[in-house]
Amino acid sequence: MTAAVDWQGVVKATPRGPYLPRVVWYEDVRGRMISVDRAREPERWQALAAADVALTTQLDDGGSGDEIPTSSASRPSIVARMLDALDARPGHRVLELGTGTGWNAALLCVAVGADQVTTMEIDPDVAKAAARALNSQGLYPRTLTGDGLAAVDPAAPPFDRIIATMAVRRVPTAWIARSRPGAVIVTPWGNAYNNSGLLRLVVADDGSASGRFVGNAAFMFARSHRRRFDGRRFLGDVIPDPDAGRETRTALDPREIHEEHADFAIGLRVPDVEQRTFFGSGAQAEEFTTWYADGTSWASVDFAPGATDFTVTQGGPRSVWDEIAAAYTAWVRDGRPRREEHGMTVTAGGDQTVRPTTTR
Ligand SMILES: C[S@@+](CC[C@H](N)C(=O)[O-])C[C@H]1O[C@@H](n2cnc3c(N)ncnc32)[C@H](O)[C@@H]1O
Repeated sequence: MTAAVDWQGVVKATPRGPYLPRVVWYEDVRGRMISVDRAREPERWQALAAADVALTTQLDDGGSGDEIPTSSASRPSIVARMLDALDARPGHRVLELGTGTGWNAALLCVAVGADQVTTMEIDPDVAKAAARALNSQGLYPRTLTGDGLAAVDPAAPPFDRIIATMAVRRVPTAWIARSRPGAVIVTPWGNAYNNSGLLRLVVADDGSASGRFVGNAAFMFARSHRRRFDGRRFLGDVIPDPDAGRETRTALDPREIHEEHADFAIGLRVPDVEQRTFFGSGAQAEEFTTWYADGTSWASVDFAPGATDFTVTQGGPRSVWDEIAAAYTAWVRDGRPRREEHGMTVTAGGDQTVRPTTTR
């Protein structure tokens, strides 16, 4: 077996600039998308290309709309962490899903050999630009355009490593079908409530795959796994009448509900609910309200510093806040397992449930 690849070293030695489009966007501290055009601000653009930040490279699937990021160059430190988890080595046949800019595919080409790398992108324009960028750097992996959730390149031999650079809500069984026994699959994983899991699975002889969450990775969802309410106005659209609801009080501090591992665990138990948090401004900058909605029912909770109980409002047939509070209580009762103390088995039939791997 060849030695493990020093992915940090490969990332450092492979500049991102040649793979980025002329205009990139980054998110400022207030969550606004700021565009930087290489033609107008070359130094700023170069600095961003070299920085450890995620850069959006396409909005709204290349059309115009609500400015939802639909393709990006991920943060280099996260890219290196994911490749470490993948443990691709020279000689492995590697499949990447979500080519994006082509930079991650370039890293794979540099480390395992371009003839071993296949990459697939759903967006034809993005795929074309990535192939051009890769070829301009002398790298010729197999570049495919299409849905990476389906069986990719079915006539080719199975893969030793599969890495997705888009999040999924369910692991496609096609990935397992296209893997050799012993193959490693690394993918960002999330649901409507929480999108923060980096999942690493190992494929077994019987067509199942098991593994656990190995870190935090918030990636854009694969096209057909996108959240229902992204790009929609939460208040007034998803929740048409936010003033009409049943008001109660809770002693449960909303900050505890937001803690990253609690948030992950609640998402497993209340998976169809999306959430948005809005902060106050000026003297109220530390105050926030979180809204939760499933399309029919909704809830909100208000936080103010120093308060010991908080207003909750719930509307619709489902008591969404009560479900969230019960999910939080169940997680505390289980000993507050961290995200990385959860695992998953995908059976040969495609069943998949996330469960804590530890019992306390
Ligand atoms: C975060 S970007 C990928 C970053 C990329 N690996 C890089 O190095 O720049 C996610 C990409 O996944 C693509 N994508 C979304 N759904 C897909 C699918 N079902 N199959 C293949 N690609 C998909 C998006 O168009 C987007 O370009």
